[in-house]
Amino acid sequence: MFDLSGKIAVVTGGGKGLGRAIAQGLSRQGATVHVLDVDTAAASECAASCNGFAAQCDVASHDEVLSCFAEIGHVDFLVNNAGVVCAPGQPFTENSEEDWDRTFAINVKSIRNTASAVSEQMRDRGDGRIVNISSVVGVIAAPFMPPYSVSKSAVNGLTRVLARQFAPYGVTVNAICPGFVWSPLWEDLGEVMAKTSDGTQGKDAREVFQGRIDTLVPMGRPQTPEEIADTVAFLCSDGACNITGQILSVDGGITI
Ligand SMILES: NC(=O)c1ccc[n+]([C@@H]2O[C@H](COP(=O)([O-])OP(=O)(O)OC[C@H]3O[C@@H](n4cnc5c(N)ncnc54)[C@H](O)[C@@H]3O)[C@@H](O)[C@H]2O)c1
Repeated sequence: MFDLSGKIAVVTGGGKGLGRAIAQGLSRQGATVHVLDVDTAAASECAASCNGFAAQCDVASHDEVLSCFAEIGHVDFLVNNAGVVCAPGQPFTENSEEDWDRTFAINVKSIRNTASAVSEQMRDRGDGRIVNISSVVGVIAAPFMPPYSVSKSAVNGLTRVLARQFAPYGVTVNAICPGFVWSPLWEDLGEVMAKTSDGTQGKDAREVFQGRIDTLVPMGRPQTPEEIADTVAFLCSDGACNITGQILSVDGGITI
């Protein structure tokens, strides 16, 4: 679909779920893709199919991120995909201080860590793409999981700030907000919701997930990991060179 041959990408959290599909999607379009993840086995499996290498890296740790990127060297595309959910939080006092700190460290501070690791080289070259994977709940509130929802709003804010700072150097920074995508994240979240949310008791994770689709998605179906991957590839392509600071919903109309 796009010609990304010769380009080098880094996908965080690329071992599983959306990150894996994003890494494989960029690779199919010619890019070499390096995969950073806390799950080394999953990262290695994915990287092997993308001609890149895998690194064990907790993106919340600035030191770990800096040492991984020093090893990687040249980066054309940085995809900040790693993220965690934190639930339940209704009322919000259910979430501990540690819930807030961990969620913000992995979902938000990580982007500061990785963007700072590529900042100098992208500015010097006058070229580069940064794509942050945010969420529909960064656009609309998710009262069931306050730290997650607020962290994704922060991702959207950080995307705009970075876009402004990188713009004079020809580097674009955008965010994608997926709606509902079946992944290991949802396997766990669906189970938690089945135990703690009103109206979902006794259901399994997939039924809880389907219930959200039926009630919230105008187009009536979930998003696929490949649809998110295609959007990332577009934002990395030549055709998107003048798009920056945008928060792009891929959610079947949830946020209309
Ligand atoms: N699945 C959805 O419906 C959905 C919807 C909206 C947004 N998102 C966002 O998409 C991204 C990917 O979600 P997913 O559903 O694939 O999640 P997932 O839990 O299935 O996979 C996340 C991956 O990130 C890795 N990871 C977790 N913490 C990490 C850390 N500290 N450092 C490095 N890697 C780490 C995990 O090991 C895993 O491989 C997340 O940012 C999530 O918030 C997902």
